[in-house]
Amino acid sequence: VIEVRTELTEREGRLVDLARLRGLAPVEAWTVQGTSRSLAYSTHGVFRYFGKFPPPIAERLIANFSAPGDLVLDPMAGSGTTAVEALSLGRGVVVRDVSPLSLLLCRVKTTHVAWERAEGAIARVRERERAVRPTEHALPVGLRNAEHWFLPETMQSLGRLRTAIEPETDRSLRELLMIAFASTVRRVSRATTEQGRLFLDHGSAQADALPTFEQRFTKYARAVAKLPSSSGELVLSVEELDAKSTPSEPRRFRLAIVHPPYFNNYKYSSINALELAWLGFPPKAVRPHEIREAFKVGKPERAAAYVSDLTRALLAVEAELEDDAVLALMMGDTFIREEYVDVTRRVLTELGAGSRLTLDRVVLRVPKYTEASWVASQRRRSDRVGVTLNDFILIFRARTRA
Ligand SMILES: C[S@@+](CC[C@H](N)C(=O)[O-])C[C@H]1O[C@@H](n2cnc3c(N)ncnc32)[C@H](O)[C@@H]1O
Repeated sequence: VIEVRTELTEREGRLVDLARLRGLAPVEAWTVQGTSRSLAYSTHGVFRYFGKFPPPIAERLIANFSAPGDLVLDPMAGSGTTAVEALSLGRGVVVRDVSPLSLLLCRVKTTHVAWERAEGAIARVRERERAVRPTEHALPVGLRNAEHWFLPETMQSLGRLRTAIEPETDRSLRELLMIAFASTVRRVSRATTEQGRLFLDHGSAQADALPTFEQRFTKYARAVAKLPSSSGELVLSVEELDAKSTPSEPRRFRLAIVHPPYFNNYKYSSINALELAWLGFPPKAVRPHEIREAFKVGKPERAAAYVSDLTRALLAVEAELEDDAVLALMMGDTFIREEYVDVTRRVLTELGAGSRLTLDRVVLRVPKYTEASWVASQRRRSDRVGVTLNDFILIFRARTRA
């Protein structure tokens, strides 16, 4: 499902030149075929995580650069696209992220839950929800001006649901309920659902969260019921770790897939603030650990901090790679107003000669109209933020240790 070309069009060639990536390694163009619906196979359609990459990209990287039984790392796992693909291809996988929402999602999307057990859980939640008294319901944690984002009735409805989920003791059921709940939060809020960024939309709020919650839960329960009930020897290991730091127990990976936030697109603790707060994680606790970017402020001069954080993260990953392992870095450059910000090239420069990583290939990701990220980038171009994205996949090999 990926069209690969080694001949670039003139326009594609110009993008590579603009990014100053010509002549460093062979260049390819990849286009992911398929609609967003067809790409939501397996559990990929569980929860709308903004800025995820298309699953066939993870699939191709894993199939080409690792073998069954190998261990794959995704240190900025987001919604767990790598985890789902790695397990389905018979690899073990370690996922890390600074966002607790991400880690929850990674577990849910890779954990089988039998349909009958899910049905039982939703019935219990329904019953408990009705019994929650008005003053006893949960509230979002660490969310400033919650009343700006939620109608008073919605706050109560979400609060009752959250309280009704809490007593569920089985971890896999509870986490599945939590993800369906998290996916409901944005939909019933007064924020638009089309973009990652939070903008007020007066018409979108829903007073009663239960119908959306039940609909999402049913959809997600159907998807996880189809996962294999046991992955045998394969492991999913979920670790709460800032990619910039070194883990206490380093491992050896055959492949790392690294997909950081874009320089000027999303700050995940902000765009997922509503969900984080309702799950009980103050967004402010996540923020200090995130890669520093230029979200909202649109200041090109912040690129130095971004490049420095990302380079630190890459060097930390490099330390855990086996000899000759592959690191695939997916990142994009941006325009801020008229200025092209070539963060990709700057990361390469900062990695420098001291690193074991040598650039093997430069892939230009050519988006299709159906890709949500492309649609979003077009929308952003027409507003004041003035961001467009050029996506690259840099494929590195880790040289043998000296
Ligand atoms: C572009 S998303 C990854 C999306 C993922 N590839 C997918 O398909 O869902 C980037 C992720 O990096 C995480 N992140 C940001 N700073 C981080 C850091 N310092 N360490 C680990 N994760 C970080 C964010 O929370 C976010 O989930």
